[in-house]
Amino acid sequence: MKEQQDAIFDACSEQFHDLFKVFNQKTKEYLNGEIFDQSIQGVCLDIGNGGEAPVEVFSEENLKRIRCFIGLDYSYHMLAVRRFDHRLQGSAFLLPFKSASVDTVIARHVIHHLGLSAGDRRHDKLLLMLREINRVIKPTGRIIILETMVPRFMEVIQLWIVRAWYHGILRKAYVPICMFSRKTLEQVIPGDFYRVHKVDFQSLRRFTLSYFDPLVSFLKYPWFKLPVFLQPYRYVAWVLEKKG
Ligand SMILES: C[S@@+](CC[C@H](N)C(=O)[O-])C[C@H]1O[C@@H](n2cnc3c(N)ncnc32)[C@H](O)[C@@H]1O
Repeated sequence: MKEQQDAIFDACSEQFHDLFKVFNQKTKEYLNGEIFDQSIQGVCLDIGNGGEAPVEVFSEENLKRIRCFIGLDYSYHMLAVRRFDHRLQGSAFLLPFKSASVDTVIARHVIHHLGLSAGDRRHDKLLLMLREINRVIKPTGRIIILETMVPRFMEVIQLWIVRAWYHGILRKAYVPICMFSRKTLEQVIPGDFYRVHKVDFQSLRRFTLSYFDPLVSFLKYPWFKLPVFLQPYRYVAWVLEKKG
């Protein structure tokens, strides 16, 4: 599973930041905007960091509140693109931290990369990650999740194709990309662990130059051999707190 995730991001690590330049810049402006107010502070763990240094992700104001930033990612090559302290190769499913040791957890655009193993329920990997976050986050901590979404009917079609074609005919035990719909995300997040402090839905167009640009960029690359056949259309941000 890890190897397949690595293969995607190792192959595109050099181009990734150029490929998503506009999207990254616009989502960062959003992340540093007022809906996240004072949520980012203390020990800050960025899951699926993609090798971005804190100065690339946060405004000066947020940087002042962060005591220690840790960028955690599966892919060594993504982490190797930039140099900054506390880059950590690791998994969202097994966070290498003590319980209740982190003030802020951020997961930007990583949920659709958690993938799907044959026999898993659609949201099993997401639940695994949420459980791990629940373990490492302090009782006063906040969790910020930024994610793209597809319509529900597309999520259902995707599941049929993944199960019948990838798992069934191609015999792949694991598929590394699977998109979620708003309905599924709202069912699974906040789940048993979290209370919603804020939630904000946006059109994906707000973060792209034009609606089809991200798809066009994907198509240019040979590593487009994945079930990325769905174009997300909505964007969601959650600020969660741990239930008492
Ligand atoms: C689309 S990139 C997002 C990078 C960055 N967060 C951003 O928004 O620009 C997804 C990143 O998540 C990482 N990733 C995927 N699955 C992961 C997992 N289970 N644990 C840790 N990192 C993971 C990938 O290696 C990749 O760098």
